[in-house]
Amino acid sequence: MKERKPFCKSPDGSIVYTTDDSFIYAEKDGVMMRLDMFAGHYYKLRPYNGVPILEVDGLRMQLVKDFRTPLDYSEEVVKGLHILATGDAVALDTCMGLGYTAIALAKKNGVKTVATCELSEAVITLAKWNPFSDMLFAKGSKIIVMEGSITERIKSFDSDMFSFVIHDPPRLSHAPELYSSDFYGELYRVCKKGAKIFHYVGSVGKKKGRRIDKEVEKRLFSAGFRAIRYVPRLQGMFTRK
Ligand SMILES: C[S@@+](CC[C@H](N)C(=O)[O-])C[C@H]1O[C@@H](n2cnc3c(N)ncnc32)[C@H](O)[C@@H]1O
Repeated sequence: MKERKPFCKSPDGSIVYTTDDSFIYAEKDGVMMRLDMFAGHYYKLRPYNGVPILEVDGLRMQLVKDFRTPLDYSEEVVKGLHILATGDAVALDTCMGLGYTAIALAKKNGVKTVATCELSEAVITLAKWNPFSDMLFAKGSKIIVMEGSITERIKSFDSDMFSFVIHDPPRLSHAPELYSSDFYGELYRVCKKGAKIFHYVGSVGKKKGRRIDKEVEKRLFSAGFRAIRYVPRLQGMFTRK
């Protein structure tokens, strides 16, 4: 067994986290557990420069390339949405994961409420153990966590509700429904006129073959979105209704 080093503590100090650089362990009331689980897929927290990232079947769910931590990525995405500090906007974060993008939205003064949705119960469990996701579940939090698929949840939202959306789905091959014209149509419906959206699409190579960014751009445009702009560093596109 690899040597474990201190990682961090929960805000109230009742949980002590350690790491062997591959896994994160939580110790509470003398009981230690490794923060990974199998539930149809293999879910695991691993440390990245002092911050946990989520892996599903070995695939990273947070972009860290060119960023020191996944928190820096989330903050830069939110910065790109140019949220006015004086507003009282309602924001949607479609795919919660560890909630770093939802938390970055909630930290903005101009945001009143953030709705976020997560399909996997295992991810929600790991997020509850992750001290960096605390704000998701804190009493009085601006963030509303919903369980289930956003493709269904979105149908229950009123039209013209959201001023900002972060759509950070798994890659297209793992969740094609989150890149579909039907979903973009619903996204358009629930956005206010002028709403700003960030959509992660992954890196766009010069290799021959499928250009996911072009496919997404075409579908977003057909749904009604305009001013579509891919930002290579964020591996995603900004657009607006
Ligand atoms: C790339 S991660 C999101 C990372 C997140 N933005 C963060 O800051 O931690 C994608 C997440 O979407 C979840 N997911 C997949 N399909 C979904 C769906 N249909 N509805 C909601 N969440 C979904 C996955 O379980 C995964 O946790």
